[in-house]
Amino acid sequence: MNILLTGGAGYIGSHTAVALSEAGHEVVLLDNFYNSNPSVLDRLQKILGKALPCIEADIRDTDVVEKVLREYKIDAVIHFAGLKAVGESVEKPIEYYANNVQGTISLLEAMKAMNVKTLVFSSSATVYGDPQYLPIDENHPTGATSAYGRSKLHIEEILRDVANSDAEWKIICLRYFNPVGAHESGLIGEDPNGLPNNLMPYIAQVASGKLPHLNIYGNDYPTPDGTGVRDYIHVVDLAEGHLAALSHLERNTEFDIFNLGMGKGYSVLEVVSAFEDACQVTIKYNITKRRIGDIASCYGRVDKAERLLGWKALKTINEMCITAWQHQVRTKSELVNVKKFI
Ligand code: NAD
Ligand code: UFG
Repeated sequence: MNILLTGGAGYIGSHTAVALSEAGHEVVLLDNFYNSNPSVLDRLQKILGKALPCIEADIRDTDVVEKVLREYKIDAVIHFAGLKAVGESVEKPIEYYANNVQGTISLLEAMKAMNVKTLVFSSSATVYGDPQYLPIDENHPTGATSAYGRSKLHIEEILRDVANSDAEWKIICLRYFNPVGAHESGLIGEDPNGLPNNLMPYIAQVASGKLPHLNIYGNDYPTPDGTGVRDYIHVVDLAEGHLAALSHLERNTEFDIFNLGMGKGYSVLEVVSAFEDACQVTIKYNITKRRIGDIASCYGRVDKAERLLGWKALKTINEMCITAWQHQVRTKSELVNVKKFI
């Protein structure tokens, strides 16, 4: 299949590009590099032994997206492009809705015009809000608490309507839990700009000496050790989940939603300890006050993906820590050529 990855230069998109290419698909990336760097293309080439076409463009440029769909004879789209910082979305809701919701509508317009009607969408477990029960299954009520989360919910609703409007549309929404880790080469991984928001890249930067210590946001949650519990999933497993979703869409046409996680929760202190064991380093930390908007525990029920997609996350917390660390210590390479459409 010829598959377009919007936001393909980003963290999850780049790992999915590897998984799809290695499975024999032709992959095309489209990214505006708002939160990624063209140097990822060079690293993908090192991993795959061939260059992947990448178009520097914004998904809101419908004409360019149409052109890409036509020129590369795209059969299916995996839609990663979006803004994803929960805290920032509360301060900049207009930017988040414009980029995420308007961007998706622009993409759908281009897909409809080019008759490309197979889509896998990157949604998030954040759409469940503060869990009413655990583990969270796909029927758990939704109730996002940030503009970011609501943008994901709006998009899911739009996609459901689109799928209902025309039987040719084949759409799956994947609700990711907490993706962490990196490709085994260490060449690609999570490269947040500035101070990391998320736990694993923060720990990795403490381990490398770039940051002095980790701030643990609260140890008075109703969890076994008082720190927040999350469902961490190795990004390479997550990437494989997209492959499984695309195969599913070859056989099934119904709009559907799947949780992608390990189905198991780890506390912040457990992650710190796992990282110390896996990488033989000491992570200094301070307990600080709770981060606004955080919840105590969030982990998924993931048997629907196993049953219907034939996919299951297998990589351990140890592998998540080691690969995050390996990526942290790799040096950055230089910018490479990016094809620009005028
Ligand atoms: P990322 O920021 O690394 O990747 C997103 C990519 O999209 C970036 O390369 C960015 O430059 C690009 N982009 C953003 N807006 C664009 C636009 N208008 N046009 C073209 N490109 C654009 O993020 P990620 O962690 O790889 O996340 C991918 C998707 O998964 C996002 O939609 C995110 O909301 C979702 N998600 C991520 C997580 C997580 O913890 N990483 C969890 C749940 C869901
Ligand atoms: N944490 C710390 N210190 C840090 C960073 C995080 O103690 O420096 C704690 C948090 O309080 C939380 C846990 O580590 O208990 C995980 O926090 P992350 O920021 O890594 O992840 P979140 O669960 O808050 O959010 C992530 C993504 C969201 C996504 C959500 C659900 O950032 O975009 O997972 O999938 F929506």
